[in-house]
Amino acid sequence: MLVKIRASSVNPIDLMKREGYGKVVFEKQRFNSFPWILGSDFAGTVKEVGSKVSKFSKGDEVWGCTSDPNRGCYAQYGVFNQDEVDFKPSNISFNEAASLPYVALTTWAALIRWATLRPQDIQNKKVFIQAGAGGVGTFAIQLFSSWNCEIATTCSNKNRNLVEELGAQTVIDYSKQDFSSVLKDYDIVLDSIGDLGEEGVMDKCIKILKPLDTSHYITLNQPLFRTMDEKVQCESQTPSWCCKRWVCCKTKRQRKACQYLQCTLKGREPCIQPCDCSPPQSSRFAWTGRYVQGTTLSCSVQVLTSA
Ligand SMILES: NC(=O)c1ccc[n+]([C@@H]2O[C@H](COP(=O)([O-])OP(=O)(O)OC[C@H]3O[C@@H](n4cnc5c(N)ncnc54)[C@H](OP(=O)(O)O)[C@@H]3O)[C@@H](O)[C@H]2O)c1
Repeated sequence: MLVKIRASSVNPIDLMKREGYGKVVFEKQRFNSFPWILGSDFAGTVKEVGSKVSKFSKGDEVWGCTSDPNRGCYAQYGVFNQDEVDFKPSNISFNEAASLPYVALTTWAALIRWATLRPQDIQNKKVFIQAGAGGVGTFAIQLFSSWNCEIATTCSNKNRNLVEELGAQTVIDYSKQDFSSVLKDYDIVLDSIGDLGEEGVMDKCIKILKPLDTSHYITLNQPLFRTMDEKVQCESQTPSWCCKRWVCCKTKRQRKACQYLQCTLKGREPCIQPCDCSPPQSSRFAWTGRYVQGTTLSCSVQVLTSA
């Protein structure tokens, strides 16, 4: 269906991709070279429908999300499959509608699709959300609230009231306090900062989890993309696609990533598998997540009970 786009949103990942972030992985994954037309979510009006479109008609107000670089939403018109689109709620504006689908689908997919949690696994759990005041965080707080979770989150002081109103019970101002010094025994961490944060922030998130194999660390920014982007600068140029462990990395970030990750490229489906090199003695976790096509950059880590 052809949609006249009335509004689209700028997500952090658009800014990052514009600067080249994830180029190595994204280009292989989507068979399309940078620069891409960016923009994932949209709200607009149906202009034309194809013969197999049954749900929508010309003039319908719709919203949706695409991850296809050939159909980025920073455009006046977009062509979408009908399963990427739904009716826009009538009580929100086009601008408001365009700000929601990508963060909502990112959060949902990170938890349900990639970390393979089911709503019944999440009910009543203790959850820590890194960066609760952001697009993903504000959506995640409301979602976890609907599952009766006990929620702790980080934000700056100016956003304290916002995240409390949305349902966070414990709010930590990240500029004043280290969350890992006050939080412990959490079931789930949803981390919007991850690899983009200061050194050690992922370890801190993992430290506050219960040491059980039901605990989950889920990050939207895992080290793989940056590691692959940086691999060309590695001294011995060891890394390559297809089951090769890369060991030449110089920076701390790269070293950390190559300790845990092994990357394979199987046709259209890159996936992260547990690395066959031994994790450091002090480590309590292993990568178990995978990302496969789709829009979500999530990766789940399972805490090992034996540590
Ligand atoms: N948006 C998506 O759909 C999407 C999809 C895939 C991946 N991601 C990734 O998820 C991340 C977050 O996306 P977003 O859309 O939620 O971003 P966003 O709306 O720009 O929000 C980022 C938030 O991070 C908070 N923050 C900054 N430094 C922090 C720190 N040291 N500790 C805790 N919080 C801190 C800020 O809080 P204050 O305002 O209170 O300072 C801000 O509200 C991005 O890195 C992005 O790559 C997002």
